Amino acid sequence: MKTDKIKIGILGATGMVGQRFISFLQNHPYFEIKMLAASKHSAGYKYKDVCNWALETPMPLDVKDQIIINTEIDEIIKKDVKIVFSALPGNLAGDIENKCAEDGIIVCSNASAHRMDKDVPLVIGEVNPEHLQLIQTQKKNKNRKGAIITNPNCSVIQLALSLKPLDDAYGVEKIIVSTMQALSGAGRGGVAAFDILDNVIPYIDGEEEKIEEESKKILGVFDKDKIINHKILVSASANRINVLDGHTECVFCQLKKQPKNIDEVKNIFKNYKSMPQELNLPSAPKNPIIVIDDGFRPQPRYDRMKENGMAISIGRIRQDNCLGGIKYVCVGHNAIRGAVGASVLNAELFVKKYFDF
Ligand SMILES: NC(=O)c1ccc[n+]([C@@H]2O[C@H](COP(=O)([O-])OP(=O)(O)OC[C@H]3O[C@@H](n4cnc5c(N)ncnc54)[C@H](OP(=O)(O)O)[C@@H]3O)[C@@H](O)[C@H]2O)c1
Repeated sequence: MKTDKIKIGILGATGMVGQRFISFLQNHPYFEIKMLAASKHSAGYKYKDVCNWALETPMPLDVKDQIIINTEIDEIIKKDVKIVFSALPGNLAGDIENKCAEDGIIVCSNASAHRMDKDVPLVIGEVNPEHLQLIQTQKKNKNRKGAIITNPNCSVIQLALSLKPLDDAYGVEKIIVSTMQALSGAGRGGVAAFDILDNVIPYIDGEEEKIEEESKKILGVFDKDKIINHKILVSASANRINVLDGHTECVFCQLKKQPKNIDEVKNIFKNYKSMPQELNLPSAPKNPIIVIDDGFRPQPRYDRMKENGMAISIGRIRQDNCLGGIKYVCVGHNAIRGAVGASVLNAELFVKKYFDF
């Protein structure tokens, strides 16, 4: 890799995930923000004048005066960026992400539009980094110079990361998962205060289907030019709760082979490391999975920021006599580990392992 920083852009830069991208990419050793794009209502204005900044940390100085561009391919091309991080709403992302890839840009997307496309990798750095090789199939099939790389839905990222070491050790056949998802997962205008205060909403549109389908692709095997899906059966029930950041998930697993005891499972979680740790990537947590022994944890308020929000926390690991396996509770930061951190880690992996700009 050359020593100059790679110019990157952010689509949906003013939204919840866009803001997290800006914050997460501050002083990044590989990447420099050179383009901020949003809707035509924000275009033409300085970032500081239209963005309703909602993070605890201040808006970084170097973006404050950047002029937002409209999300049109001609405007994007003028900025000469090599990578764009997409934080667009799923229904708007598909077309512009394709256009960027056709123009030679690498798109690292949080949006759902292309996640299930057969030749688009759906990657979690620590779970299936080898799926990035699917980019070659995509370039060939679509005759494009760039490519789209996606990361999964926020609740799937922590779920699949917790399942991978179990699957390697014991084989996971079936799981039941009940999620308690943070408000920030719905975006800035997502849930009205009147609906969520003193309340739990037992439905999130499209979420259960995403959890059930994306898990199979992520845990699947890369075979020459395609992904063979994992046979895991997933049953999900998704709830919105009154927590700002951090999704909590209760997971019940049926395993092919039974663990000797719970300590063995704890060690498998604790010792799990993968390619991002081996390559020492800038955003890789030292330990992607943290095991907490306190019976009252993990809790989103205390555990979502472990390893800068990039590690998930697992606790309450116990035997499950109903499905025949184990059950546990898992917490992860939906907007960092479950969105921007995952996307940036994918870009780092791509740059370090598969590409030289
Ligand atoms: N929030 C999470 O935890 C999370 C986690 C994983 C994945 N995601 C995914 O990430 C994406 C962004 O989510 P979010 O929560 O950040 O949403 P959000 O807060 O609603 O932000 C949406 C962004 O898209 C821009 N936008 C809206 N309409 C547009 C248009 N017609 N053309 C161009 N830009 C437009 C907005 O710009 P203006 O300000 O100009 O309107 C804003 O920058 C979604 O696909 C979501 O599913 C979110």
